[in-house]
Amino acid sequence: MISKDRFEKRIIVTGGAGFIGSNFLRRAVPRYRQYLFVNIDCLTYAGNLGNLKTVENDENYVFEKIDVRNDELLADCFEKYDVNAVIHLAAESHVDRSIIGPEAFIETNIRGTFNLLELARRRVHDFRFHHVSTDEVFGSIEDGLFSELSPYNPSSPYAASKASADYLVQAYHKTYRLDTVISNCSNNFGPYQFPEKLVPLTIRNALLKKEIPIYGDGGNIRDWIFVEDHCRALDLIFHGGRSGNTYNIGAGYERPNLDIVTGICRIIDRMLGDGPRERLITFVGDRPGHDRRYALDSSKIKSELGWEAVESFDQALENTVRWYLDNQEWLDDCISGEYLKYYEKNYSRRRN
Ligand code: NAD
Ligand code: TYD
Repeated sequence: MISKDRFEKRIIVTGGAGFIGSNFLRRAVPRYRQYLFVNIDCLTYAGNLGNLKTVENDENYVFEKIDVRNDELLADCFEKYDVNAVIHLAAESHVDRSIIGPEAFIETNIRGTFNLLELARRRVHDFRFHHVSTDEVFGSIEDGLFSELSPYNPSSPYAASKASADYLVQAYHKTYRLDTVISNCSNNFGPYQFPEKLVPLTIRNALLKKEIPIYGDGGNIRDWIFVEDHCRALDLIFHGGRSGNTYNIGAGYERPNLDIVTGICRIIDRMLGDGPRERLITFVGDRPGHDRRYALDSSKIKSELGWEAVESFDQALENTVRWYLDNQEWLDDCISGEYLKYYEKNYSRRRN
């Protein structure tokens, strides 16, 4: 049984078994032994507890298999751990899935955020609520950069659901004086990303010598950031962000999709020496509502909180490719679904 009284903060991290959440927890749990981290995740296809092996037995970490759509279980959890902060990452996160089936995005990303806000509101005097959001809320930009003051103009059901959640968080700050911060980050890449997103999908297909699909003409531009730079930014914003504020997080590495894919093919060719893999690139029909360009102005987090992206893009991409090469079992398990059994095998019999 966890003795919650000895922890200065009792923080619910939602979506901690996903890509960014697990990168965040592997960094934060050893770093902040004075905090208890309660990982709430319902383990969708994107949730993999195997991502958390390095912290799963730590005394200031606990996992609760809870769906953020379930307000009763959430309420019990808030009570059980006397929670005084939330870092909210749980979401349906893939644009293509949101186009095929938007409902889960509405339920998890909007209703789930609402459920958490309602519980936070009851503890308003001693609570920080950090919503981890995306640059996709701003839509596409031809020239220039999005600032924190740019109007929201979401294109996909995913982006619209995240924008709705941001608005709810802002409303709870204004109406109920809840201490909130929102971070809007650009496209992440790095270890433990589910191989449906562009970077890990390309690495996997390149390794298997399967076709690598490029939507449209491949000229769509994203502002890429290495996941560890994002996690450092989350730490700074959670601890030092001004209440009621939003912070953009972007490293400024703007690249067209075709450059990303070509770059990955060349890195793997160099590492394995059996290319060229570029011939696997296959242009396919465009994504409906496909945003042409994302680009963020991150001067606010730099000047207020001293954040900088420390990883160079080329080095981070190289390291990422190396990680997937060294962890092909992890990739295979994602595809076969084997990773979903990790909870049953290692966790479900345990008591918290
Ligand atoms: P992910 O899809 O890898 O992980 C999402 C996690 O949330 C999974 O562990 C999943 O099991 C869990 N989850 C989903 N629905 C849930 C529910 N109803 N209840 C409880 N848990 C649930 O996503 P990610 O890429 O790690 O993104 C994390 C957050 O960061 C999301 O809110 C996303 O919008 C935001 N974000 C992501 C990026 C990016 O490039 N990946 C960029 C900016 C912001
Ligand atoms: P993605 O990784 O899905 O992130 P997001 O849609 O949140 O930006 O896609 C990144 C870019 O890559 C986006 O412009 C769509 C494109 N893309 C492809 O061209 N082919 C693919 O197979 C995927 C998954 C994405």
